[in-house]
Amino acid sequence: MLFRKWRSVAKVGDVAPGAVIPVTVDGIDLALGRDGERYFATQRTCVHRAGDLSQGTIRRGELVCPQHGWRFSTETGRLVSVMDHCLTVYDVRVRGDQIEVDPVPRKRGR
Ligand code: FES
Repeated sequence: MLFRKWRSVAKVGDVAPGAVIPVTVDGIDLALGRDGERYFATQRTCVHRAGDLSQGTIRRGELVCPQHGWRFSTETGRLVSVMDHCLTVYDVRVRGDQIEVDPVPRKRGR
């Protein structure tokens, strides 16, 4: 059985639909976003040239980097146009009014 270490990182009202905010969990800087009613979390630093993805935008299920516009799936972290680049993604859940993140990165394909 997989041991989960959920950590509260924000309240539900802190992230508007379509917004991305910076959060830190266990010393790891993340971008926490809300794509419709679904929350997601990725590494905060872009794999291209270290753009701040917490300043990015969400468009049709994709997180768009503010630096050069690379687009990543909010579901898998995979770069949409170049398949060999991928963000580290983290599982997110809502408990009451708290948004919680498991600081253990999701395995690819999970
Ligand atoms: S730094 Fe993110 S696309 Fe260039």
